[in-house]
Amino acid sequence: MPRGGPDASCLDRLLETDRLEYLDRDSGDPGVASRKRSVIRALELTGDWFGNHEKFAHIALDEVAEVPDPRILELGAGHGGLSAKLLEMHPTAHVTVTDVEPQSVAAIKAGPLGSDERATVAVVDATDIDSADGSFDLAVFALSFHHLPPAAAARVIAEGTRVAHKLVIVDLPRPPAPLHLIRLATMLPLAPFIPFVHDGVISSLRSYSPSALRALAAEAGPDVTVELRGGLLTPQVAVVARPRG
Ligand SMILES: C[S@@+](CC[C@H](N)C(=O)[O-])C[C@H]1O[C@@H](n2cnc3c(N)ncnc32)[C@H](O)[C@@H]1O
Repeated sequence: MPRGGPDASCLDRLLETDRLEYLDRDSGDPGVASRKRSVIRALELTGDWFGNHEKFAHIALDEVAEVPDPRILELGAGHGGLSAKLLEMHPTAHVTVTDVEPQSVAAIKAGPLGSDERATVAVVDATDIDSADGSFDLAVFALSFHHLPPAAAARVIAEGTRVAHKLVIVDLPRPPAPLHLIRLATMLPLAPFIPFVHDGVISSLRSYSPSALRALAAEAGPDVTVELRGGLLTPQVAVVARPRG
């Protein structure tokens, strides 16, 4: 399925790439490892400056407003900024802060979350979560869903809604193709020089449209429901759930 969804236009289908972001490359090469760290650091800083960690924490906490002591699983945490906000904003929440990248998890463990008694930090692949069904009230996957090709992305939805009552996906919006071209044109000149922009261009080309998100939720299971919000100029939010037996 194209990133623009089953009904994507011809132009939209051209605005895709299989090229990997630095974040998706093997950290064995020291040059790649250092670019990866630079991208994660830039995400952490811009999340602080533009209030994204706090905005995403509000979105997540709204979904567990009725739960007194929510257990929240953060997938693809990168730097842990969102989990730190969740703990700051909810006095009795517990977070499990995870990422597939061992270096990122080691860095989070070495920081304040590593010694917070309401936080557990672990390496977890969002496509294959090693937790029992219903272990969490909520799972959240921020700015990460586009990293996964469609089959793996559908697995994240299946796994997230298996281990948690709801999964909140917050990700880059995929604009209509003409606007997308303009967004790419503004970023491309800096992409060869700034790792964060390089990964931003690829993220944009790999972002999913609302119709793609609906198709991926349907692929994850016939009983999976999806509610979509935001998009275009704000991050796109998908709340996916499946009825409890
Ligand atoms: C762009 S960063 C987002 C970091 C952070 N969530 C934020 O909002 O700034 C994407 C993260 O997704 C992680 N990731 C990619 N594939 C993953 C997978 N299969 N399971 C868990 N995390 C994954 C990457 O290691 C990276 O840390």
